[in-house]
Amino acid sequence: MKASYCFSMSLFLLIVLISFPWPNSACSHVNDFLDCLHSFPSKDISSISKVVYTQNNASYASVLNSTIQNLRFSTPTTPKPLVIVTPLQTSHIQATIHCSRIYGLQIRIRSGGHDFEGLSYVSQVPFVVLDLVNLRSIEIDVEKKVAWVQSGAIQGEFYYEIAKKSRTLAFPGGICHTVGIGGYLSGGGYGLLLRKYGIAADNVIDAVLIDVKGRILNRKAMGEDVFWGIRGGGGGSFGVVLSWKLKLVSVPKTVTVFNIRKTLEENATELVHQWQTVAPKLPPETFSVVTMRKVSQNGRPTVQASFSSVFLGKSNKLVPLMNARFPELGLKKKDCIEMSWVESLLFIGLIRNKSIEVLLDRSFKSPLNAPSFKTKLDYAKNPIPESAFKTIWSKLLEEDAETAVMGFIAYGGKMDEVPESATPFPHRNGNLFHIAYNVGWSGEENMKTLRYVKWIREFYSLMSAFVSKSPREAYVGYRDNDIGTNDKDTSYGTASVWGRKYFKNNFDKLVHVKMMIDPHNFFKHEQSIPSSFA
Ligand SMILES: Cc1cc2nc3c(=O)[nH]c(=O)nc-3n(C[C@H](O)[C@H](O)[C@H](O)COP(=O)(O)OP(=O)(O)OC[C@H]3O[C@@H](n4cnc5c(N)ncnc54)[C@H](O)[C@@H]3O)c2cc1C
Ligand SMILES: *[C@@H]1O[C@H](CO)[C@@H](O)[C@H](O)[C@H]1NC(C)=O
Ligand SMILES: *[C@@H]1O[C@H](CO)[C@@H](O)[C@H](O)[C@H]1NC(C)=O
Ligand SMILES: *[C@@H]1O[C@H](CO)[C@@H](O)[C@H](O)[C@H]1NC(C)=O
Ligand SMILES: *[C@@H]1O[C@H](CO)[C@@H](O)[C@H](O)[C@H]1NC(C)=O
Repeated sequence: MKASYCFSMSLFLLIVLISFPWPNSACSHVNDFLDCLHSFPSKDISSISKVVYTQNNASYASVLNSTIQNLRFSTPTTPKPLVIVTPLQTSHIQATIHCSRIYGLQIRIRSGGHDFEGLSYVSQVPFVVLDLVNLRSIEIDVEKKVAWVQSGAIQGEFYYEIAKKSRTLAFPGGICHTVGIGGYLSGGGYGLLLRKYGIAADNVIDAVLIDVKGRILNRKAMGEDVFWGIRGGGGGSFGVVLSWKLKLVSVPKTVTVFNIRKTLEENATELVHQWQTVAPKLPPETFSVVTMRKVSQNGRPTVQASFSSVFLGKSNKLVPLMNARFPELGLKKKDCIEMSWVESLLFIGLIRNKSIEVLLDRSFKSPLNAPSFKTKLDYAKNPIPESAFKTIWSKLLEEDAETAVMGFIAYGGKMDEVPESATPFPHRNGNLFHIAYNVGWSGEENMKTLRYVKWIREFYSLMSAFVSKSPREAYVGYRDNDIGTNDKDTSYGTASVWGRKYFKNNFDKLVHVKMMIDPHNFFKHEQSIPSSFA
C-alpha cells in the first residue's frame, strides 16, 4: 500500500534527518506530489502554486480552519492534511486527483465544511484537502427560473443573489446559510420549502462532475444512474461535483412567520402531542417546526416547546387556517409577522434584526450551534404517545442537557408524493416528521466530548421505541458515525448497516453507481459508498 510506504518513508527520513539537518522534514511524498501538480499537462497549470498549501506555508492553519464548524474536529491531535489545494479552475482539480492517485494520498473534498463528522477535512490516512472555496460562482436566469451554482458557494450567497434579482423566486435550500452547496446537495437537503417543493435534490436539473479519471461530465455524459446517485447519495463517493443547475421555485411576495413558546406548565405536552398529527397534514404552503429545550422559569427548570412556522401567504389566511386545524395553540394576528421569503429564513435561523447582507458572511456562527456539538436524526412514522413525553422531558431536564435541543420538522405535502426511489433520499411517504437532536459545549474538548456525547447517545437509545424501525432510518446529510457500529449485519461490512439506514433499498443502486464511476474506490471515507457487494 502507498499509504504505509509513506509512513515507512517518514521513518526513514526521520533517521536521515537526525544525521543531516535538512530544511524540509515533510514526507517525501509531499514534494513528489507538488512536483506532480506542477508538471500536470495543462497549459495554465503554473497558477496552481498560488493555491497549494503545505504545513510549511504560513497560511496553512488559517486556510484549514476557515470553514471548520465543529471544534471537536480541530484539536491539536486531530489528523491534518499534508496538503490543501483551493482550486481556481478545473485543471487544478484534475491535477489534484491525478497526483493523489499516483502518490497514494486520499482526497477529502470540502465545500462548506459543515460535515457533522468532519469527514471533509479529517482522515486517518495521509490525505489532501481539495477545498472548493474559490469555486463559488452563481449565475441566475430569472426568466427561465434556473441557476448554475458552483459547489464552493455557501447557501447564503445563493439566497442573496436570488433575492437581489427577485422577491418571488427562491430555492428549496437549508436553514443555516453557511452550509456549502456541494455537501448540502450531495446529502439531499431539506429546508423551509420541503412540504411545497420537496428536498433540494428534487430540484437539480443538471450537474458537472469531475470523476476519478479527471473527466468533466455533465448529466448527459455521466448518464442517468450517476446523475441519480450524486443527488442525495452522500458527498465524497463518486467524484468532485463542480457545479449544479438548479430549478428556482415561486414564492409569494409576502410570507408570514410566527413563533409561540409554551412551557410544560402551559400545556406544552398536549400541544406537542397534537402537533405530531396536525402539522404533517397542514397545506404544503406551511413549514412547521417545534423545538424543545430545558429553560428556567421563575427559577425552576422546565421544558419549553417553541412552535414556529413559515407560511407562503399572508397572515389573514394563516390565522384562520391555524385556528381551524390547531385551535389549542391559540395563534393570534399579533403573533404573526409578514416579510419576504428570504427574511423568513433569517427568522427561522434565529438571526433577528439583521439585514440580508448577513447571508454573505461566511464566518457567521449560527446561534443554533455551540462551538462543539454532536447531532443525530430520526424519522417518526407514528405519533409519540402522550405518556412517553414524561420520560423524554426527564432526559431533557438532566444536567448534561443544558444546551440540548430536540426539534421536530413536519413532513407530508410534496414529501409524500415523490417515490422513494426517485433519488437516493428514501424518507418520503409515511414519515410524519423528522427529529433532530443536538447537544453542544465549548472548551475542555476531550472531557466534555465524552460527557455530552454519552448523553446524546443515551437520549437516542431512549427514543428508539418511538421512531422508525428495521431499519432505524437516518439522514446522510446528518452524518453520524455512531450508526452501524453496534449492528451485526456484515454483508458489505458495516456499510450495509448505515447504508440501509440512510438509503433503504436505494443502497444497492448506489453500490452499482459507485462500481460504474469509481470502481477502484478512490473517493473514500468512513461512510462512502463501497465499490463492491462483497
Ligand atoms: C449548522 C448546520 C446546519 C445545517 N442545516 C441543515 C439543513 O437545514 N438542512 C439539511 O439538509 N442539512 C443541514 N445541515 C447538514 C448539512 O447539509 C450537511 O452537513 C452538508 O453535508 C454540509 O455541506 P458542506 O458543503 O457545508 O459540508 P462539507 O463538510 O464540505 O461536505 C460534506 C460532505 O460532502 C462531501 N463534499 C463536499 N463537497 C463536495 C463536492 N463538491 N463534491 C462531492 N462531494 C462533496 C465532503 O467530502 C463530505 O463528505 C446542517 C449542518 C450544520 C452544521
Ligand atoms: C506554499 O509554499 C510553497 C513552498 O514554499 C510554495 O511553492 C507555494 O507557492 C506556497 N503557497 C502559497 C499559496 O503561497
Ligand atoms: C485553528 O484551530 C485550532 C483549534 O481551535 C487552534 O488551535 C489553532 O490555533 C487555529 N489556527 C488558526 C490559524 O486559527
Ligand atoms: C391547559 O389546558 C387546560 C384544558 O386542557 C386549560 O383549562 C388551561 O387553561 C390550559 N392552560 C394554559 C396555560 O393554556
Ligand atoms: C428587533 O426589532 C424589533 C422591532 O423592529 C424590536 O422590537 C426588537 O426589540 C429588536 N430585537 C433585538 C434583539 O434587537
